[in-house]
Amino acid sequence: MSDRPRLLPLLGATRHGGRDAMTCLYRCGNACDHPVPNTSDNTYFGDVVSAEVTRRGVVRAGAVGALVLGFGGAAAGALAGAAPAAAAPGTPVVPEAAGFGRPGRGVGSGALTFTPIPPNKLDTLVVPNGYDHSVVIRWGDPVLPGAPEFDPHEQTAARQARQFGYNNDFVGVLPLDKQGRRALLVVNHEYTNEDLMFPGFTSQDALTVEQLRVAMAAHGMSVVELERVGGTGQWRPVGKGRLPYNRRVTALSTKFELTGPAAGSAWLRTAADPKGRTVIGTLNNCAGGVTPWGTVLSGEENFNQYFVGGDGAPAELKPKLARYGITTDARYPSGSRKWERADERFDLAKHPNEAHRFGWIVEIDPFDPESRPRKHTALGRFKHEGANVIIAKSGHAVAYMGDDERFDYLYKFVSDKKFMPGNSWVARKHNLTLLESGTLYVAELYQTSAGEIDGSGKLPSDGAFNGRGRWIKLVSGNRSYVDGMTAADVLTFTRLAGDKVGATKMDRPEDVEPSQLTGKVYVALTNNTNRGVGSNPKADEANPRTANKHGHLLELVEDRGDNSAETFVWSVPIVAGDPTDPSTYFAGYDKTRVSPISCPDNVAFDATGNLWISTDGNALGSNDGLFATAVEGPERGHLKQFLTVPLGAEACGPFITGDNRSVFVAVQHPGEITGASLEKPASTWPDGDFAKPGVVVTWRLDGGPVGS
Ligand code: FEO
Ligand code: CA
Ligand code: CA
Repeated sequence: MSDRPRLLPLLGATRHGGRDAMTCLYRCGNACDHPVPNTSDNTYFGDVVSAEVTRRGVVRAGAVGALVLGFGGAAAGALAGAAPAAAAPGTPVVPEAAGFGRPGRGVGSGALTFTPIPPNKLDTLVVPNGYDHSVVIRWGDPVLPGAPEFDPHEQTAARQARQFGYNNDFVGVLPLDKQGRRALLVVNHEYTNEDLMFPGFTSQDALTVEQLRVAMAAHGMSVVELERVGGTGQWRPVGKGRLPYNRRVTALSTKFELTGPAAGSAWLRTAADPKGRTVIGTLNNCAGGVTPWGTVLSGEENFNQYFVGGDGAPAELKPKLARYGITTDARYPSGSRKWERADERFDLAKHPNEAHRFGWIVEIDPFDPESRPRKHTALGRFKHEGANVIIAKSGHAVAYMGDDERFDYLYKFVSDKKFMPGNSWVARKHNLTLLESGTLYVAELYQTSAGEIDGSGKLPSDGAFNGRGRWIKLVSGNRSYVDGMTAADVLTFTRLAGDKVGATKMDRPEDVEPSQLTGKVYVALTNNTNRGVGSNPKADEANPRTANKHGHLLELVEDRGDNSAETFVWSVPIVAGDPTDPSTYFAGYDKTRVSPISCPDNVAFDATGNLWISTDGNALGSNDGLFATAVEGPERGHLKQFLTVPLGAEACGPFITGDNRSVFVAVQHPGEITGASLEKPASTWPDGDFAKPGVVVTWRLDGGPVGS
């Protein structure tokens, strides 16, 4: 393809912050053009419950009992004592983290030593001086043995199902051996962009059924075995051999099992699955998390855009569909993807329950390639950005989750059973059931300075956007705590349950991740240009800016340092934007020394507990990128930009290995700029021909730890 013409970048039509119109169409089905799905008048931010807000109950490093950070962040350390990793497919093997970094002193307070890079609009990946990067794997590269060489002109669904999918988002890297030489890369493929994938694309309606099936095969997930390159922080796919762990999960053919209280309920039964217990495929997998027992969680996010026929669904179902952004009014266009032409289950007039079978948290065991992935109904159904687990002091597994929609909610799940440390067969089998039953909560936040919030971002007189909060119980096991709704109702229509109990409406809660070292939880609130506009909810202390273009972060500290507690304190450590903008805030750090940031989306931690933040839709005019800051001590708020991704792309992932020597980032939707096509690309990253989403690894040239 390298002899094809290379054109200058196209000028995109940006909207809703910095996102290109093409991203709006393909990513979320133009969600922002549709009415806000949350029309509830629940009393968010009722009373100031307590003016006494203290920073108490912080779990200190080492107090997290079973968890010792290993190579794979949360994943590996808890699994110390693992069996060697030379198992056959179907034999689950859990990694061991020996030989990798352990958290040092000064958790989360390390001064990040790299020199920040400047904002830019280059069609390349930019890293700091002293660092290098390489493309680990890109769209079309082989995953399964026998995958044909990638040629977009000859693409078929069968080929794509053996190749790396499109638009990589979540990235997890799980160690396969004690020496840190082999690892499993687990990646989400969130969505496809047919404009950029198919030669001669004219419209979605003109795609052949086979092309629609290619798109389905390009969705889902990939598991790819990696090897370290020499003794460096660089990694590459293992090119030869049996590759027993390599796997593709697709929207086309992978079977999932539904678990938990809503599995088998009437809401989930269809003609193809009269028992309501198995689903074909997973959709729009956005972020995710690596569990302490060595599996990967993945969030089904904007599933609504795959469905048509909402106007023909039964009348009693329509409000439930509409709350999830599915059009039920024939006057408005629905389902932009046209998959119903390839598979009629995407037509809700014919199969009204099919939509309820998406919007879940998915769990996949990458160490057992024969295992059937599961959708856990106990974690509720919404536009799941992702889920990140920490083991509470009590031993229960706690998953934090965001519902990525303007004015939607923040959730947490606490397992009934306790985590079993170690890596015996018994422990592994037990831990795989942890997300099948438990208690689901939604967050309500209270303010300390309610009267002073004017939407400008001006700090209140007590010096902080902060307050207390509580987790409102929705369901525990099979018992519902929401009037008029059964447990299956609450779990299937969790947004409606949140409305009823008066959850707090947030500015697009995306990634929510606890620090495994401190137990503190960080929430990326990407943006919400509707905040305080028209009849929409006004700015409040937790969402303090009107027409919030650049987003902010929230920090939660659970009471008594117990992640299974039902109360917490919260604060806003970062209000994003250009630091010269008076509405921004960087934890009180000198604003002349921080990097501009816009639209925080995914968060991750390095092995010393520093917070890494990637962005989606930079509304400051620069390419999206990855940033890092200490979260404790005098360097808290000293945000520095680590990399930028190429034109039109979003920085996803990110994942920092537990030895702090490799930073993985997913470059999602490069060249996704209105007017671009395969033949006329707006980005030629990474190979100089046409744009391909791909996963990148960055490492320090002198072999030292990344970032600090
Ligand atoms: Fe897929 Fe919430 O971004
Ligand atoms: Ca306050
Ligand atoms: Ca995201």
